[in-house]
Amino acid sequence: MNGPATLTLTRPDDWHLHLRDGAAMAAVAPHTAAQFGRAIVMPNLKLPVATTAQALSYKERIIKAVPAGMDFDPLMTLYLTDNTPPEEIARARDADIVALKLYPAGATTNSDAGVTDIRKTYRTLEAMQRAGLKLLVHGEVTDPAIDLFDREAVFIDRVMIPLRRDFPALKIVFEHITTQEAAQYVAEAGEHTAATITAHHLLYNRNAIFLGGIRPHYYCLPVLKRELHRQALVRAATSGGARFFLGTDSAPHPAHLKEHASGCAGCYTAHAALELYAVAFEAAGALDKLEGFASFHGPDFYGLPRNTGQVTLAREPWTPPESYPFGDGQLKPLAGGEPLAWRLRV
Ligand code: NCD
Ligand code: ZN
Ligand code: ZN
Repeated sequence: MNGPATLTLTRPDDWHLHLRDGAAMAAVAPHTAAQFGRAIVMPNLKLPVATTAQALSYKERIIKAVPAGMDFDPLMTLYLTDNTPPEEIARARDADIVALKLYPAGATTNSDAGVTDIRKTYRTLEAMQRAGLKLLVHGEVTDPAIDLFDREAVFIDRVMIPLRRDFPALKIVFEHITTQEAAQYVAEAGEHTAATITAHHLLYNRNAIFLGGIRPHYYCLPVLKRELHRQALVRAATSGGARFFLGTDSAPHPAHLKEHASGCAGCYTAHAALELYAVAFEAAGALDKLEGFASFHGPDFYGLPRNTGQVTLAREPWTPPESYPFGDGQLKPLAGGEPLAWRLRV
């Protein structure tokens, strides 16, 4: 392929990441720290990170899991519940916690403690709006009557539009968007609404889950959608629009719990995150738009400084391993064992 042999970018950040805890975290944190300057760390541990004190002790454990000499700054979030007291918000702000995460109860991995009715959180959302803390949203309804593939689009009507109306100054990130409807909603929603987009939703449509048999490593939530949605996400990510930015949603699970009768949702991409995005951007003829998406739009929206260092991607084909050690088990990365055109120089 004709194209640049290398691509140097301002060091990027990952605005949506699952690091887990303990031995699992020790296995994955070095992958993220090798690529990104910062990452927004999701709070959906088995015991949710619901208080400032819990987030600060989690942050210490994360810092210990990053190998010495790697310059990586975890940005912490709290898990919003029906009962998060408004008083927690000032404590969170004073501790540099950047956001609260809304999981509709039952929507995804470790979301049982999530919000059952958004109106129960309104006093806390008011405090967040005042304090400048962001609201990060897993944007799917949980209504079993709604088709699984429609749950994001229905969430826009039932939750996002009323929320936006009731809290016009709250900064909201619609996480891991997967549909044309969500891309369009965010594009038109004004300066306080942004979205993260994963590499896997840019690279694959829902056929990937069923190619040659059911493939649990392509199952995540929100689930991959039709090709027309993938194309809409590629257009949004490569548009140069400042309210679309990189969030891998890298979500490691042990292989035996994904290759299971009711396999866990989540794709692991942190081992080659920037490379996977580079493949998607190059396929769209938009490598020149990768730096804004990966390195500028996120910090600008969050009101944080852009990173100062750089990373270089080289057109240097390699094959990521089919699995990594992961605590007592194994972790199978997305597209492991398949050749990848780009490689991050470290
Ligand atoms: C995430 C996880 O495993 O924690 N899974 C996923 O499929 N995306 C949770 C989430 O981000 O919804
Ligand atoms: Zn989610
Ligand atoms: Zn996630």
